[in-house]
Amino acid sequence: MAVRTIQWNNNRVIMLDQRLLPHKEVYRVYKNYEGVAQAIRDMVIRGAPAIGVAAAMGVALGALWVKGKNFDREIERIFHTLEKTRPTAVNLFWALERMRRIYIEKRGEGVEAVKQLLKQEAIKIYEEDIAANRQLGKFGAKLLGNASRVLTHCNAGALATAGYGTALGVFRAMKEAGKEIEVLVDETRPFLQGARLTIWELKKDKIPVTLITDSMAGYFMQRGRVQVVVVGADRIAANGDVANKIGTYGVAVLARRHNVPFYVAAPTSTIDLKCLTGADIPIEQRDPKEVSHILGRAITLRGVRALNPAFDVTPQDLVSAIITEKGVITPPFAQNLRSHVHRT
Ligand code: MRU
Repeated sequence: MAVRTIQWNNNRVIMLDQRLLPHKEVYRVYKNYEGVAQAIRDMVIRGAPAIGVAAAMGVALGALWVKGKNFDREIERIFHTLEKTRPTAVNLFWALERMRRIYIEKRGEGVEAVKQLLKQEAIKIYEEDIAANRQLGKFGAKLLGNASRVLTHCNAGALATAGYGTALGVFRAMKEAGKEIEVLVDETRPFLQGARLTIWELKKDKIPVTLITDSMAGYFMQRGRVQVVVVGADRIAANGDVANKIGTYGVAVLARRHNVPFYVAAPTSTIDLKCLTGADIPIEQRDPKEVSHILGRAITLRGVRALNPAFDVTPQDLVSAIITEKGVITPPFAQNLRSHVHRT
């Protein structure tokens, strides 16, 4: 099944509005970069690689409408706006960096040429992400061997990427290889990416899924219902610490307690060697209303204090392996990550 998370079409960016899933499939059309930035902030699109692609397309879209004489000033405004959308997933900054490099290296060729080159680069980032996911999916499927009872947290699927997915890409590759697979899906409070998005995607692909609340993961691990955990990542530090959706750390602790391998599937664009450890990764703090309300309805007393860190950091010693499009990285991550990223 091809989930069309984001597309570049006729100098417009089209996104599936993920806030409305699984009940409604609504596509939004963006004609300017401000709209794309707002869509990232509002979670119309989410997931680390997907917001990287959206930011790149936002730059390309913004550049198209800039008049020649203000080009330098306007392009800076576009980069600045997109950089400020969400802080944790490094793919956003990685994609903007690639776009900036094109702009700096090619500006001598004239405004119209740069506009075309930025558009081409954004589409390239999109296409490369799908290819990376397919490749890491194959590596992951091999790594998992005959394990069939897997657990995942959040949504690291086609919806979180340009297509195919990272953790869910591994499950898709397993299915394509004819392996048995059954996925336990954490609902992923408070934004419910597991219940709303992962279930929707895997159901469409006819991959067997079962929804559980986040607090049930330990129960099912105790009963041998989980052989392997596979999650995505928003940023991986140079020492192997992994920032991912809030709750991932708890799953990793439980997995260690029950001798269940804990795998992280992510493209190399998610690895940030400039962050030496997880302590350097900025954690987005979102609106407390996402905690005090569910789907717009209050679940607690009015005015009660609530906190909403959107991500947590799983320390590297709880990570069994990291699966990328270049292969599988095993500990010691401090040594192996760096050489892996630089491998061609
Ligand atoms: O807040 P979100 O929905 O953008 O968070 C998404 C996640 O944490 C995903 O697990 C991560 O981005 C990996 S996506 C391939």
